[in-house]
Amino acid sequence: MSNKFAVILAAGQGTRMKSQLYKVLHPVCGKPMVQHVVDEVTTLGLSEIVTIVGHGAEKVKDQLGQSVTYALQEEQLGTGHAVMQAATLLEGKEGTTLVLCGDTPLITKETMKALLELHEKEDAKVSILTARTTNPTGYGRIVRSEDGFVERIVEQKDATEEEQQIQEINTGTYCFDNIALFNALKKVTNENAQGEYYLPDVIEILQQAGENVVAYQTPIFEETLGVNDRVALAEAEKVMKQRINESWMKQGVTIIDPAATYIEKEVIIGQDTVLYPGTMIRGNSEIGSGCIIGPHSEILSSTIGDKTEVKQSVVRESHIGSGVAVGPFAHIRPESNIGNDVKVGNFVEIKKSNFGNGSKAPHLSYIGDAEIGDRVNLGCGSITVNYDGTNKHKTKVGDDAFVGCNSNLVAPVTVGKNAYIAAGSTVTDNVPDSALSIARSRQTNKEGYVQKIKEKKNNDK
Ligand code: UD1
Ligand code: MG
Repeated sequence: MSNKFAVILAAGQGTRMKSQLYKVLHPVCGKPMVQHVVDEVTTLGLSEIVTIVGHGAEKVKDQLGQSVTYALQEEQLGTGHAVMQAATLLEGKEGTTLVLCGDTPLITKETMKALLELHEKEDAKVSILTARTTNPTGYGRIVRSEDGFVERIVEQKDATEEEQQIQEINTGTYCFDNIALFNALKKVTNENAQGEYYLPDVIEILQQAGENVVAYQTPIFEETLGVNDRVALAEAEKVMKQRINESWMKQGVTIIDPAATYIEKEVIIGQDTVLYPGTMIRGNSEIGSGCIIGPHSEILSSTIGDKTEVKQSVVRESHIGSGVAVGPFAHIRPESNIGNDVKVGNFVEIKKSNFGNGSKAPHLSYIGDAEIGDRVNLGCGSITVNYDGTNKHKTKVGDDAFVGCNSNLVAPVTVGKNAYIAAGSTVTDNVPDSALSIARSRQTNKEGYVQKIKEKKNNDK
């Protein structure tokens, strides 16, 4: 097998995005565009992947890490100039070089493989991945001779009226004979509408030198979508979302309304889980089997066991066990660890707390910086008073404790195992195991008081 390399172009600013964020770092289904491209190409097992960085180089490097090598394009003088920057790493090496753009996040490894295979079979010097579309605006067009051979690629801004009618476009993905690529790049000039060194000009240079130029037209245009602005970004998101949703449906997940369900690329979901509309599952979340998620729930970088329900709720960077009922309208904030068979009901917020197996906070509670044992009942309106204005303090509630409604647990404080807290208490001192704590003023009933007041009023008239 000959050597195979890849060059990924990711140095452009992406002016048309009108953004502070560098174009290739814009996420599609939660993952930066360039990362999608790198992840797909990595599966091909090539000898080297070179990413061309420039605008936002450090940020792109932070994102991609050690998985690729880098070449810096200090000034963005065009896609041909960008590939030239890989010369120090690749020039003179025998082999095949796959060139990809960092702004085509939908391209799949299958299509890359098909292009590589055709390139080898045809013994070509360059194989271009093309696609047909009824709306080719913005793309380079494939100019073919009368007998159908590719002659050159013309950019939108350089195209004549007639050339603009061409519906076969350059997807920006190519396979080159590596030696021929770097030789031809030396001949590319910047005499065009944009004053840039275009990579597609290499095609005409090779064609005129009588080399074998091949085109592979993919039937799936959407896969080759180049994201240059936010309209295309939304388009890419839609296609990727559908792809992810269909993949999960094929693996046994029910999605009631795929158009209204958002699952990011790295998420894992178990069989027979049902996702209701308005659900977003993000980051590296892992959902077990037989769960019901949604309607209208957001789960970010969290793990959830089996047969758990999360309705109209937000869960972030936390773990929730199996057989748990969350919501409606609950908020599980980062670093929470919820056990099995728990109930977290409406208007309950849990933050950075452990919540033991079989425990319940059915309504209107704030539980922050707490250790809640097993089988604890937190009555409606139970609150951990965890913040003194400067520091956060811990609340501990032992197994089988029962906290009555509207209780304030003023931290730092410990409620012992099996203890009872009377409703309406403000607990400032530790409560021993199995004790009843009443921390409220006693009720006084003044018999006949109302009648007395009324009589007084009448007498004063
Ligand atoms: C490019 C192609 C066009 C093709 C389209 C497919 C050229 C001249 N045109 O156009 O034929 O139809 O892609 O999507 O190649 N980049 C650099 N350095 C530079 C310039 C660009 O690294 O100096 C990178 C960008 O970050 C981007 C990629 O190259 O990831 C493509 O550049 P972009 O400006 O998006 O080219 P298009 O106008 O889309
Ligand atoms: Mg582009």
